[in-house]
Order: sequence, then C-alpha cells, then structure tokens
Amino acid sequence: MKKNFYITTPIYYVNDVPHLGTAYTTIAADVLARYQRQRGHTVKFLTGTDEHGEKIQEAAEKKGTTPKAFTDEVSAGFKIAWDKLNISYDDFIRTTEARHVETVKECIKKSMAAGDIYLGEYEGWYCVSDEAFYTESQLVNGKSPTGKEVKRIKEENYFFKLSKHIPKLKKYILDHPDFILPETKRNEVLSFLEEDIRDISISRTTFSWGIPFPSADSNGPSKKHVVYVWFDALVNYVSALGTKDFNTFWGTESAPQAIHLIGKDILRFHAVYWPCFLMSIGLPLPKRIFAHGWWTVEGQKMSKSTGNAIDPLAFTAQYGLDAFRLFLFREFPMGQDGDFSIKNFKERVNADLANNLGNLLSRSLNLVNKNLGGKVFTSHDLQCLERFSDPLLEQIKGAYHELFEISEEQYECFEFAKILNKIFSALSLTNKFVEERAPWSLAKDPQKEEALRAVLMTAVESLRLSAKLLWPFIPGTCEEINRRLGQKMEQKSSWGHGVEATIDQGQPLFMRLTI
Ligand code: MSP
Repeated sequence: MKKNFYITTPIYYVNDVPHLGTAYTTIAADVLARYQRQRGHTVKFLTGTDEHGEKIQEAAEKKGTTPKAFTDEVSAGFKIAWDKLNISYDDFIRTTEARHVETVKECIKKSMAAGDIYLGEYEGWYCVSDEAFYTESQLVNGKSPTGKEVKRIKEENYFFKLSKHIPKLKKYILDHPDFILPETKRNEVLSFLEEDIRDISISRTTFSWGIPFPSADSNGPSKKHVVYVWFDALVNYVSALGTKDFNTFWGTESAPQAIHLIGKDILRFHAVYWPCFLMSIGLPLPKRIFAHGWWTVEGQKMSKSTGNAIDPLAFTAQYGLDAFRLFLFREFPMGQDGDFSIKNFKERVNADLANNLGNLLSRSLNLVNKNLGGKVFTSHDLQCLERFSDPLLEQIKGAYHELFEISEEQYECFEFAKILNKIFSALSLTNKFVEERAPWSLAKDPQKEEALRAVLMTAVESLRLSAKLLWPFIPGTCEEINRRLGQKMEQKSSWGHGVEATIDQGQPLFMRLTI
C-alpha cells in the first residue's frame, strides 16, 4: 500500500560548516528517503539550518558581519555540500524564513492560550555552545556536561510548563516501545523522566538575534524577549509542512508519521521538550525519534579545536563519494558510536567495492563480451538459466529473495549495517559461484554452452538486484552498474526479471587503495 513518509534531520547550526557528524545524519536520512521512494511511497525529506540564537550572533560578530549576511552565506554552503553528497532532500528550511517565524509565533500563542506559558525569573547557568540551561548539579567540574564553558545568567524569562506534561509523556513512551530508539536511548529518557523535572525557560532577553516573543499585549514585557533558540528550532519540523503538507505528512495520533533522525547529543530536546510542546499545542507526536551514536576520528573526539574534523567534501573528492557513503553505515549499527579510521575505510573499500562488487561486475562484463557477443538476457539465455540446476544457484536466489523480504520497518529502525552485511554476503556468494563454476573453462567446451550462459546470467542478475538494493546507499554507482548492464531500476525486484540488452564494459568501477 502506498503511504506518505516524512523524514527529518536536525537543522544544523550555521556557526560550523558541514563535517563528518552532520554529513552522517544527513546521508542516513537520505538512504531512508531514497528507499521509501523506491518502494513507491510519497516522501518528504526535510533538512535545513538553525540560524538564530546567541551562538550565531556571536559567530557573526566575530566575523565582523551581520547575522543575516552571515547566515545567508553559511546556509548556502550547507546546500552546496548536501548537493555534492547526493542528498535528495525535498525541502530545506531556514529558521530565518517567514514561513518558519510565523509558525513559531503561532505555536507559542497556542501554548499560551493553553495556559502553559508564564513569566518568571531564571537564575542559573547557560552554555552558549550547547544553547542550553543547566542547573548547578548538572555541571561537571564547572563546565557543561558536554565539557563547554558556562556562564551565570539572571534574567526575566518566559517559562514553559514542562512538568505539567511529563506524566502523559511517560505513559506515551511506555505505551509506544518504538517511539524512541534505540532501546538504550529510550531507557535514558525514561530514567531522566524519573528525576525532578522543572519548567524550562523559553525566552532570552540579553541579545536580539531571534524571533520576537509574541505577547497578547504588544506593550507588555515580552517586547525585549526573543524565543529561546531550541523552541524556535524544534518547530521547523512543523513549519516546513505548511497547512497542506501537514495533513499529508504529519499523521494523526493513532497513525503518526514523522521520523526524526538525530544525534544522541540532542536527545532530550527531541524526546522530552518537543513532545511536551506538541501536546501543549494539541498536535500529534512524531512516529519515531531515532538517536544515532557519535563518530570519533582515529580514536579521538572530533572537534574544531583539535582540527581533526573530517571535511566530507575534501574526503569524497579524494576517495570517492560512494565509498564514503557506504563506509558510514557498513561497520557500526547506527545506535552505537563508531570510529572513523582511514585504515578501516580503505580495507572496507577494497573488500566490498573493489574485490567484491567491482570484481563481480568487471569479470561478468568481460566474460559476456568475450563469449556472448556482449548480449545479456536473450530468450535463449533465460531458458538456459531456467534449466540450470545447481545448489549454489539456489542459495543465491534464496539470498536475494530474503533481501527483498526485509521489511520497511527494519529500514525505518535504521538497521543499515545488518542490511548491508546481507547484501555483500549475497555478492560474495555470487563471486564464489563464478569462481567454482569457472565460466572461462566452460567457454572452451561447446557442449557446455548452456551452463556457460546460466552461470553468466546468474552473475548479471545478481548484479542487477544488488544495484537495486544498494541504490539508496550508493546511488551513483548503482545507476552506473545498471547503465553498463543495460538494465533499469524500474524492473521487477525479484529473480529472473533481467531484460535483453547489450552491455557496455567500461573501466573498473573501483581501484584498490594502498593501505
Ligand atoms: N541546531 C541544533 C539542532 C536543532 S534540531 C531542531 C544542533 N545543530 S548542530 O549543528 O550542532 O548539529 C547537531 C547534529 O550533528 C547532531 O545531532 C548529530 O546529528 C550531528 N553530529 C555532530 N557531531 C557528531 C559526531 N561527532 N558524530 C555523529 N554525529 C554528530 O544541534
């Protein structure tokens, strides 16, 4: 059945340029969006930039420019980067756009009308880098829990009655085991909810780069308040939809649709603040919040100050886009932390792309050219394949059958590492089959022409199906494989639906990297 599918990434702060971490989230969302489109669903894939707040104002000042000019430039840079990384986003939201600003104001007014917002005074710690308020007991050695500088602030703030919604949220999480994933993160949130939860500040008064806090009384105290950047940012998931798309993509209480993919660092904002805010304004909650792990680089925490952040554009220019896109999901389950090591990267590329997928493609194309006049899937070929009885061939067919039976739910739970492992096992099995049935020997004996055709068509069919399965991960490579095989993505996703074509041999797709 055709469904509407909504996937979002966090909107990224414009005080930084795209790096391995933000590219990881964005490519993961791209994989899922592509997969769902391939299944025939209607997809809205949203990403964007988070442009307000003290941190951005400071970053602009440091550059000697205005926040507007600064955010325009960095935001445009994100778009360019995502295009280069082949990210198929459908919409890119900026929090400085009118469609967003208006929605934030509307949401705050609704929450006010529900009696959930009041004026008070905040005295405590604030971390500009995290854009987060911390209590004394949350500090670690005088720093934020993320190790960043904090400052003492005392200011008049609007508060949101978070505490009021906590019992309902707790019940919701308990009733919906797949709402927060992975399970470890769900448990973290549940244990946080057992603590003494206070109401939270949702406005700031000591700087001006933000959405003016709406007030029922325009002369009222809110004049100098701007919306706290997280309450501004989270609303992007709704403001990007507008009224029309909201009905199509947000879903209902009994059938929620939105999937928010985030990093584990921003779990509390998404899994506690955001649902409570949605409850306050009377909107259904998202279907899922999936928090992925963090990357280290060669065993070290990745940071601007140590200068070890991987620049995805420079990296992919050197090593190839699809090698990078594949590596991100191949080694570690998405819920876990992972280490980005060049040695592991090269070994992975050599094993999967050069020796396995690439090798199967070059040897198959070469043998088809040499022995079958460059043609695949003629009716004679298909008959030979049909008649060929071979236990290893049955095993290969079984492997692909299983791969196309993988549920959408497994993809929506980001089980990418498991899925990739199965695809590359099916390819290895096909390489083994070619090795053992040795078509180069069969070609020497005219009596064995049927077997030769069956073996080569097995290899080509396995490549065609793999291209389909791998397309969400490495789209460019898969489109090229199909082009060379004369096949189309739209052909059926089951064994035996290759169409007659003339192949185009070309150069090897992947070179072995020296380690
Ligand atoms: N602007 C907020 C999000 C608002 S969403 C309503 C924000 N932006 S951010 O630019 O700091 O991006 C945070 C995201 O970057 C994380 O959630 C995560 O997706 C990604 N990562 C940043 N560093 C990372 C790693 N080292 N490893 C993996 N992902 C990390 O927070």
